[in-house]
Amino acid sequence: MLGAGPISQAAHFEACRKAKNVELYAICDVAEDLLESMSAIHTPRKAYADYDAMLADQNVDAVIVAIADQFHVPMALKALEAGKHVLVEKPMGVTVEECEELKDRAEATKLVVQVGTEKRFDEGIDFARDFVREEIGEMIALKAWYCDSTHRYTMTDALQPVIEASEKAKRPEGDRKADLRRYYILAHASHLLDTARFLGGEIEAVRTRFVEKFGAYCWFSEVGFADGSVGHLDLTVKVRMDWHEGFHIYGEHGSVIGKTYNPWYYKSSDVECFSEKDGRYHRPLGADGHFFRRQVEGFADAILDGAPMRGAGAEEGLAAMRGMVAMLRSAETGEDVGLSGVEGGV
Ligand SMILES: NC(=O)c1ccc[n+]([C@@H]2O[C@H](COP(=O)([O-])OP(=O)(O)OC[C@H]3O[C@@H](n4cnc5c(N)ncnc54)[C@H](O)[C@@H]3O)[C@@H](O)[C@H]2O)c1
Repeated sequence: MLGAGPISQAAHFEACRKAKNVELYAICDVAEDLLESMSAIHTPRKAYADYDAMLADQNVDAVIVAIADQFHVPMALKALEAGKHVLVEKPMGVTVEECEELKDRAEATKLVVQVGTEKRFDEGIDFARDFVREEIGEMIALKAWYCDSTHRYTMTDALQPVIEASEKAKRPEGDRKADLRRYYILAHASHLLDTARFLGGEIEAVRTRFVEKFGAYCWFSEVGFADGSVGHLDLTVKVRMDWHEGFHIYGEHGSVIGKTYNPWYYKSSDVECFSEKDGRYHRPLGADGHFFRRQVEGFADAILDGAPMRGAGAEEGLAAMRGMVAMLRSAETGEDVGLSGVEGGV
């Protein structure tokens, strides 16, 4: 584990310890107080304050890169250089160009690079994806929404373990929340775009309208899928109600309706899939809602058994990055923006 910050404390340490095919072998953080307290709780065999020293350890097979977004690509590249597989937190990076570089390096090294969009390991969303592929025939439309709530921290404070902070934590220069538009796009649009692509396939273009009012931020994007379907993506931050996330998909022979919970409830999405063939709704239970454990198990399956990647690969991380940049550019100009041509970053 590179990084012993909030996401590692709330998700990854426990996920690695519970995973059937993973050993939490080493933790690395420059903040020695965090390193010490997290090592005491999670008892890895090794604790490193220096990333290069951890990478030099021959017993490390793979690294989870759980640090600030701006550091993802450089530290993931270092891991590949040292011959380690990488699970890099979302967003994959902060510019199209650096994500391209990571994708190219991943392909050249043949090491596994997975991006931490854990919703792909939500059993409900996974069921919906199979249903879309196998039952509904051609898709005509997809709507997806991801709306963060004003009450979010009341909920997550109740659900997560006590998060230890450190004054010594390494963070990029400046205040990461100084420009909230960019911060929310990186934090949340990365999930929304990945889920939309996971369910509906390649997105070719977006046309986004942005409105900011009373401390709330709303991006409505009309999207065009490569198969000719139309989509609508709603990213709204600080909705005055509960966490609100989900999707509707309409196809030739069926439809899918999904409701996703705040991730920290560890509850799989409620999904109802209607099939014209039998005239019935199909609904999975999804008893195993530990998306983060399922994610790291999927990562390890790909490494140990060469299993097909169930998570987002580098290509998918790059596509989400292109989508984020396209949303921002389109919101600025009001024009349609094709994902293939975008440059620069968020
Ligand atoms: N998948 C999700 O749903 C989800 C949820 C929350 C956060 N995240 C992502 O997780 C990432 C990390 O978030 P966070 O809040 O834990 O970050 P953070 O910046 O608060 O903590 C990162 C920790 O890594 C350490 N670190 C950074 N660079 C280092 C280096 N080179 N060597 C050693 N230690 C180093 C820092 O000292 C710090 O303690 C972000 O990219 C964020 O977007 C994902």
